[in-house]
Amino acid sequence: MTIGSSIPALDAAAADLAAVDLADPGTFIGTDLTALWGRFRAERPVHWNAPGPDRPGFWAVSRYEDAVAVYKDSQRFTSARGNVLATLLQGHDSASGKMLAVTDGERHREIRKLMLTSFSPRVLGRVAEQVRARTRRLFEGVVGRGPLDFAADVADHIPINTIGDLMNVPQEDRQKLVDWNTQTLSRDSAEHDEFEELLARNEILLYFSALAAERRRKPGDDVISAMVNATDLTRPLSEDEIVFNCYSLILGADESSRMSSIGAVLELSRNPEQWNALINGDVAIETAAEEVLRWTTPAMHFGRRAVTDVVLRDQVIRSGDIMTMWNTAANYDGAVFADPERFDLARTPNRHIAFGYGPHFCLGAFLGRTHVAAVLESLRDLVAEIRLTGEPKRLWSNFVYGYSSLPVELKAK
Ligand code: HEM
Repeated sequence: MTIGSSIPALDAAAADLAAVDLADPGTFIGTDLTALWGRFRAERPVHWNAPGPDRPGFWAVSRYEDAVAVYKDSQRFTSARGNVLATLLQGHDSASGKMLAVTDGERHREIRKLMLTSFSPRVLGRVAEQVRARTRRLFEGVVGRGPLDFAADVADHIPINTIGDLMNVPQEDRQKLVDWNTQTLSRDSAEHDEFEELLARNEILLYFSALAAERRRKPGDDVISAMVNATDLTRPLSEDEIVFNCYSLILGADESSRMSSIGAVLELSRNPEQWNALINGDVAIETAAEEVLRWTTPAMHFGRRAVTDVVLRDQVIRSGDIMTMWNTAANYDGAVFADPERFDLARTPNRHIAFGYGPHFCLGAFLGRTHVAAVLESLRDLVAEIRLTGEPKRLWSNFVYGYSSLPVELKAK
C-alpha cells in the first residue's frame, strides 16, 4: 500500500489532541501539520501521548523553549536509553553506551572530541569544495533533459558520496548502503516489515565490521581509521563502538541531508517569490540554506528518558518517563520566529533546532549545511524554472520528514 491511498487524514483543526498518536507515522500523512502543531503549542505544550496496546505512553514538547531546555539538560534527561521513539518505546537501544548519540557523560565527551577532529569546518573545507563540484555535475546531467525524479536522480547521490569519501567506503558499495539506509529509516510504504528493517540494519553493521577490520590492517586518513587508531582516549574504542559509530555516521549523514535538499526543491517549485529571490541572487546562499533547514526539519523529533522527576510547566515528568522534543513544531514557534509559516530565504536571525541543541548537537551540521547550500547554488546557477511533473511521495515515518520521490523537470537557464 502506498501512502495516501487509503489512510484518512487527520482533521487538525477539529482533532481531539489527547487522542492524537504521535507514534503513528500515519498521523503525519495528509495532515495539516502547521495547524496541528500550532494547537499543540497553544493547548498542550507538554503533552502526554497515551499508551497504545503494545507500547508505553510518552511526553511530547512542541514549544521551542521547552525543546531546548530538555536538549540542554542531559543530567536529568538521558540519551543512553534511546534517543528516538523507535528505541525509546522498546525500552532499550542495542547501541546504548557504544554509539555517540546514545551515550552520555565522559565517554560521550571524549568520543565526540575524537570524531570532531574529522568533522571540523577546517578539515571539511576541502570536502565542501568536492560536494559543490559533485552536486554541480549531477545537476548538469539532468537540467534541460526532461522529466526526472529529483530524489533518485540527484539528491540520493550527494550525501552518501561525501560521507563515503570521509570514511573511504569503496565507490561500488555506496548504492547498497543507500538502499539499506532506506529500508532502515525512510520507507515510503505503510507495510511495516520489521524483519526486513532488522536485516538491513544488520547488513550495515556487518559491512562496517569488515571495513573496520581492514582499516586495522591497513589504516588510511579516513574517519574509520581515526577511530580504529585513536590513542588519546581513556580506553581504545571497542569493536562495537567503532561499528555503531560508523552506522550512525552513514545513517545520520545520508538521510537528513537528502530530505532537506528534496524539500528545498519542492518548496521552491511552489513559491515563485522565493524562487526569484534565489535565482536573482537577492539572498546569500548560507542564509537561504538555514531557512531550508528550518522549513524542512528532516528529523521531526528526538527523545530522551527522564532519570529523575522533573517539573515542566504544569506537568510532572516522572523518573523513567519518555520525553520527545518535536523539532518540527519548535522550528515554527511564533515566540522565536517572526511569521514562522512564511518560507523566507532571507530570514535572519534563524536559530532553528533542525540540528538539535546542547551536548548532542549534530556532529555533521557543517556537512548538512554544505549539502543544502550546494543544491541551492546549483539551482541558482543552472536552473531557470522548476516544474512539478507528478505527485511527490511522502515517507512513512514518525521520525524522518520528507519525500522519497519528487518528479520534476528542471528547465535550463
Ligand atoms: C546528531 C540532525 C546531518 C551525524 C543530530 C541531532 C540532530 C541531527 C537533530 C541531535 C540528536 C539528539 O540530540 O539526540 C541532522 C540534520 C542533518 C544532519 C537535520 C542534515 C540536514 C548529519 C551529518 C552527519 C550527522 C551529515 C555525519 C557526518 C550526526 C551524529 C550525531 C548527530 C553522529 C550525534 C551527535 C552526538 O550525540 O553527540 N543530527 N543531522 N548528521 N548527527 Fe546529524
